[in-house]
Amino acid sequence: MEIDKSSIVYSLSGSQGDLYEYFPYLFQDLWELGGGSDEIIDLIERNCGLLNPTTKILELCCGKGAVLIKIINKFNCIGKGIDLFEPFINDAVNKAREYNLSDRIDFEVMDIKDAVNNLRNYDFVIYGSDTNILGDESESLRKIIKCCKPDGYLVYETVIKSEEDELKFLKELGLIIIDKQIAQPDEIRKMNDFINQKLIRRAEELIDKFPNQKKLFEDYITAQKKESFELENNLTLVRFLLQIN
Ligand SMILES: C[S@@+](CC[C@H](N)C(=O)[O-])C[C@H]1O[C@@H](n2cnc3c(N)ncnc32)[C@H](O)[C@@H]1O
Repeated sequence: MEIDKSSIVYSLSGSQGDLYEYFPYLFQDLWELGGGSDEIIDLIERNCGLLNPTTKILELCCGKGAVLIKIINKFNCIGKGIDLFEPFINDAVNKAREYNLSDRIDFEVMDIKDAVNNLRNYDFVIYGSDTNILGDESESLRKIIKCCKPDGYLVYETVIKSEEDELKFLKELGLIIIDKQIAQPDEIRKMNDFINQKLIRRAEELIDKFPNQKKLFEDYITAQKKESFELENNLTLVRFLLQIN
């Protein structure tokens, strides 16, 4: 399988392909790469109660599997997680083993482009607008919901400018808005500070080790901080529970 490195770099807020080989080092202290697992669990429990053990949950672009593992651990159902970055999937497999969930969760290295063509009949699909490889937001969601059962759910985490516009857009796609959780500024600040602190420490170590690549790592940290500022000040992070119509 050909790996689309630029898709992985883009999804981890980098713009330079040279970063790719350093991601396992940079992200070694982080399990949850985006946050939100507790909030997603609340959203599901509040609206769907405790799930049946045969409920099937798919997470697309699952990173190191933190969100999916926590969900399966809570609801004791069945999960599949796919991500294109093999080192992250290896970490996810090890974590599932640690949680004694290897028989309930299958992690696989897969491109989301293939996943949306081949994976079907999931009760819940979890997706966090991680890539633009499927097209714009509307094209992406149209492809992703094909993985759901006819009356299944999509847990969709996204960053928006206007809540009114996003609600209208989701309704136009034929999705029923069951519930939503808007990330509070405090939650976002804490999450960003935690992630950035870990990344900065590892980036500094890489600068010491590879001084000729100093600019590459410094630019990455600058981009991370800029993205955090945007999220804290100019955008809204929302998790939607949507039902397929
Ligand atoms: C920000 S991380 C999200 C991780 C996870 N949702 C979490 O919160 O821990 C984005 C993920 O998208 C993955 N990714 C990027 N492009 C992809 C693609 N074309 N197919 C599958 N996964 C992809 C990256 O490897 C990365 O792990």
